[in-house]
Amino acid sequence: MIFQLNEEQLAVREAAREFAQNELKPGVIERDSKMTYPTEQVRQMGELGFLGMMVSPEYGGGGMDTISYVLAMEEISKIDNSCSVIMSVNNSLVCWGLETYGTEEQKQKYLTKLATGEWIGAFCLSEPEAGSDATSQRTTAIDMGDHYLLNGTKNWITNGGSSKVHLVMAQTDADKGHRGINCFIVETDWDGVSVGAKEDKLGIRSSDTHTIMYSDVKVPKENRIGEDGFGFKFAMKTLGGGRIGIASQALGIAAGAYELSVAYAKEREAFGKPIAKHQAIAFKLADMATEIEAARLLVHQAAWLKDQHLDYTSAGSMAKLFASETAMKTTVEAVQIHGGYGFVKEYHVERLMRDAKITQIYEGTSEIQRLVISRNVLKGQLYVPKVIPVTSLAH
Ligand code: CAA
Repeated sequence: MIFQLNEEQLAVREAAREFAQNELKPGVIERDSKMTYPTEQVRQMGELGFLGMMVSPEYGGGGMDTISYVLAMEEISKIDNSCSVIMSVNNSLVCWGLETYGTEEQKQKYLTKLATGEWIGAFCLSEPEAGSDATSQRTTAIDMGDHYLLNGTKNWITNGGSSKVHLVMAQTDADKGHRGINCFIVETDWDGVSVGAKEDKLGIRSSDTHTIMYSDVKVPKENRIGEDGFGFKFAMKTLGGGRIGIASQALGIAAGAYELSVAYAKEREAFGKPIAKHQAIAFKLADMATEIEAARLLVHQAAWLKDQHLDYTSAGSMAKLFASETAMKTTVEAVQIHGGYGFVKEYHVERLMRDAKITQIYEGTSEIQRLVISRNVLKGQLYVPKVIPVTSLAH
């Protein structure tokens, strides 16, 4: 199947590009430097519909497809990855999970506010001793009859300080292993929820990453998502789509650094001609362009499979693996092309290089993506497209 981007998808990409250039770019260096949470920018993203893009209009969302979402993520990630991770977690991990597996009451109560950005959500899976090994949950939720009693600590929680709602994975029956894990909707102003200090990070510095402590938090029974024991599968299925979001973030980082590098290389002269005319630089640009195009095709293929309701687990992991490695490689080269200027904040590429690193770590490290892909390879469950979906090659 071959398709071109339709009018709506092109318009979404243009709107995201304009928003990123006009609203995000002006303060991005200062926010990064001072670790300032982008309160106003997140409010604007909600108003423009970027925080619940794929949610049905019935619940206040944009009713858009995953292709539109990755296009918007790419544009926003060219400029501000603190904003794009806030957007990715709210869209892919929180809203998608609630809309797909929540009850009608849960959707009315929570999704309607999360989809519009009135509330921001967080996805609480990682723990001090359960990162890649996500089945080893130590957080517990004891069934007390009319409610669950939640206790434990989660860390590296994106939107940890700004969120009103957490989706918290917890062990309800340790004897059952991963089948004893459930996911609960927790409101952050409930008694017993406390937020640790904001992490001082290498990249995505203005997003708010926190440790969260739950101490005897009473969670109503109706706030469990899905059947008893569904929590680990909920987390895995939700992360499957989340990885497409992070892949598009990585793609945006690479594409942003590449665009800056092309412009700089055409303008900067050395030895009597623009450095772009020197083969040493021209070949770097050629490699960047090729790898970014390959990453874009993988990201769009994964998004397309999701939109077709086909299995996208391996495709999402491949997209994230390749796009995040491309982001790291491209941004290192972008700094090199910029020389000394690349090493200072004003030229943006050093920030993109720092932001790139996290895309190889969160929502499953590159090693975990290889594990997911190789398991599917060995099970013979790899999707082999009959015809590759080709979107627009125009950037
Ligand atoms: N869909 C549905 N079910 C799945 C699944 C999927 N994609 N992947 C696994 N499962 C099911 C398995 O079928 C199995 O169930 P059964 O026993 O009933 O068959 C169960 O889950 C356990 O699976 P495994 O035996 O494969 O478990 P494992 O321990 O060997 O490995 C893993 C699982 C893939 C390594 C998983 O632990 C994993 O993905 N780890 C990485 C965690 C991660 O990505 N964390 C990111 C944190 S969130 C974040 O970063 C958000 C943020 O703030 C930015």
